[in-house]
Amino acid sequence: MSNGLEDVVAAETVLSDVDGLAGRLIIRGQPLGSLAGHASYEDVLSLLWDGFFPDLPDDLRQPLADARARVFALLHRELSLVADHPAFDAMRALMALLPDGTDLESALLLAAAPGAFLPALLRLRAGNQPLAPDTGLTHATDALRMMNGVVPRPELARALDTYLVTVADHGLNASTFAARVVASTEAGLTSSVLAALGALKGPLHGGAPGPVLDMLDAIGRPDNAEHWIGGELARGGRLMGFGHRIYRVRDPRADALKAALARIGGGGRAELAATVEGAALKALKRHKPDRPLDTNVEFYTALLLEAVGFPRDTFTAVFAAGRVGGWIAHAKEQAATGRLIRPKSRYVGPVPKVAA
Ligand code: CMC
Repeated sequence: MSNGLEDVVAAETVLSDVDGLAGRLIIRGQPLGSLAGHASYEDVLSLLWDGFFPDLPDDLRQPLADARARVFALLHRELSLVADHPAFDAMRALMALLPDGTDLESALLLAAAPGAFLPALLRLRAGNQPLAPDTGLTHATDALRMMNGVVPRPELARALDTYLVTVADHGLNASTFAARVVASTEAGLTSSVLAALGALKGPLHGGAPGPVLDMLDAIGRPDNAEHWIGGELARGGRLMGFGHRIYRVRDPRADALKAALARIGGGGRAELAATVEGAALKALKRHKPDRPLDTNVEFYTALLLEAVGFPRDTFTAVFAAGRVGGWIAHAKEQAATGRLIRPKSRYVGPVPKVAA
C-alpha cells in the first residue's frame, strides 16, 4: 500500500508518456519539443482526440472557434452571476452548466469554455463588458483579444499557444486520474472535467504558478535569493516550481516554456528569475541530497503567463484551458475500457467488540 500510489500502474494509455529519468515527454508519439512552438493547440487537440470520436473532423480550428461562440451564447447571461468569485471558481461554476454528454459536441464546448469564459470574467472584473468570441481567430489569439479588447501581437498569441500545447497532456497526473475515475462510472465529460478541475486547483498540482510569483515578489532582489530560500527551507516550506513526483531531472516542459518566454523578450523578471532558479537548485541539492529536485513546469508557467498578461490568480484557470484537451481524451479512453475504477482500502479503524 502506498498513500500516493507511486509506481502503481492504473491505466494503459496511447496519449502521453512521461519518462521521469530521461526528462522526456511524448504526446501521442511526438516528443514535446516537436510540438511546443511548432503545432497549434487545435493541432494538438486533433492529435489527442484522434480515434475517440467517430465524427472528428480533420482540422479542429473552425469547430473549436465555433464552439467558443456557442459556449459564450449559451452562458453569457450567467457570467455576471459568478464574476465576483475567484476566477477559477467562477470558470468552474460556468463549466458545470455545460451539457454532460460524451459526444464531440460536449467535448468541443468543454475545450472551448475556458478560452471564452476566463477573458469574459476578467473583463467584468475590470468593469468592462465581455466581448463575444471572433470565430475567425485561433483559440489563443481570440482568448487574448477577448481579454484585452485588441487583437494581440502574433508573438504573444504564439507564446500562449505554446503554453496550451505544452500542458495539454501529461500522463496519469492527479487531475487526469480524477477525470478517468469519473469517466469509468459512465458519467459524462462535464462530470469528468469538473473532477479534474478540482484536483488541478491544489498547490501541489496546478495551483503552484501563482505562488511562484509570490515567492519572486517576496525575494524582491537577486542578492536576497539565497537568504530567502534558505529561510523557507529551514522552516519546512516547499519551493513552488521545483520538484516533481515523476521527474528526477529537469521537467522538459520548463525548457519549452523558457524558450517561449525568451521569444517574447524574457518578461520583466528575467534576471531575478534566473538567480532564484539557480539559488533554489543549489539549496535543494543541499536540503535533500538523496532526492533530485529540479525545476518543474510551474516556474516558467508563472513567468510566461505573467508576460502574456494574465493576472496571477488566473494561472490555474489558464492551465485548465490547456489540460482540458487531455482530460477529455483520457475520459474517452477510460470509458472505452468499460471497466469501473474501484480500488480497495485497508481498514485500520476500531473493530467491533465481540462478546466473550
Ligand atoms: N521544496 C522543498 N522540498 C521539497 C520540494 C520543494 N519544491 N519538493 C519535494 N520536496 C521534499 C519533500 O518535502 C520531501 O521531503 P521529506 O521526505 O522530508 O518529506 C522530499 O523532498 C521528497 O518529496 P517527494 O516525495 O519527491 O515529493 P512528492 O512526489 O510528494 O511531491 C511535488 C511532488 C510536486 C508535490 C513537490 O515536489 C512539491 O510540493 N513541489 C512544490 C509545488 C509545485 O511546484 N507543484 C507543481 C508540480 S508540477 C505540475 C504538475 O505536473 O502537476
